[in-house]
Amino acid sequence: MIIAPSLLAADPRRYAQETRRADRSGAEWLHLDIMDGHFVPNISFGPAVVKAIRPLTRLFFDVHLMCSKPEILLEPFRDAGANQIIVHVELGERVMGLLWRIRALGVKVGLAINPPTDIAQVRPYLGRIDHLLVMTVNPGFGGQEFIHETVPKIQQAAAWRRERQLNYHIAVDGGINFQTAVECARAGADVFVSGTALFGRRNLKAAVARMRKLVSAEEREARALLRPQTARA
Ligand code: DX5
Ligand code: ZN
Repeated sequence: MIIAPSLLAADPRRYAQETRRADRSGAEWLHLDIMDGHFVPNISFGPAVVKAIRPLTRLFFDVHLMCSKPEILLEPFRDAGANQIIVHVELGERVMGLLWRIRALGVKVGLAINPPTDIAQVRPYLGRIDHLLVMTVNPGFGGQEFIHETVPKIQQAAAWRRERQLNYHIAVDGGINFQTAVECARAGADVFVSGTALFGRRNLKAAVARMRKLVSAEEREARALLRPQTARA
């Protein structure tokens, strides 16, 4: 399982120090929310910030483009140090071309889906992605309440992954805290993007360790349930 603190929830006056805090936290990834003020009603930060913090850590940079024209941003973010680039399935017929372009840039390929969007929309792309990001809030802001109605979408994505023997990550993003992370792990998620619940804590390292412990316990329980009856006797 992977824990990915979301820098959007960090103190914008201290992105360098907050990146170093994440680097020492035991998290594997740093989630970077890029907002263009058009796809979502907010603007966050751009390639210059990503480039500035890149030398401060070896964390995997998970760049989430909440942008209406991601095609003009792919290279700038790859050059700034992105290890993965995520675009939204809501971009419609442009999605397949975008996924191929991200792949051609030599970074991991991610696809995100918003709460109101039917999970069937991602089906045509599952064989072409490394990472499926199931939004558990409507994108645009940190600190929102988890939307429980998104849980069946996680379950469906996990079922398709099993049936088709694919190995994309299933990530959840938005309102992920110590309780909702466990609920999402139970549903099949393996990457946990969390802003407020992690960066909002004085001790980020302890918060990451606590979320990891809770999710690992849930994953062990889920594996035990999958084992044949005899093995469990
Ligand atoms: C929302 C972003 C999320 C957000 C998560 O549009 O995609 O990554 O920063 O923040 P929390 O964990 O505070 O909901
Ligand atoms: Zn995000």
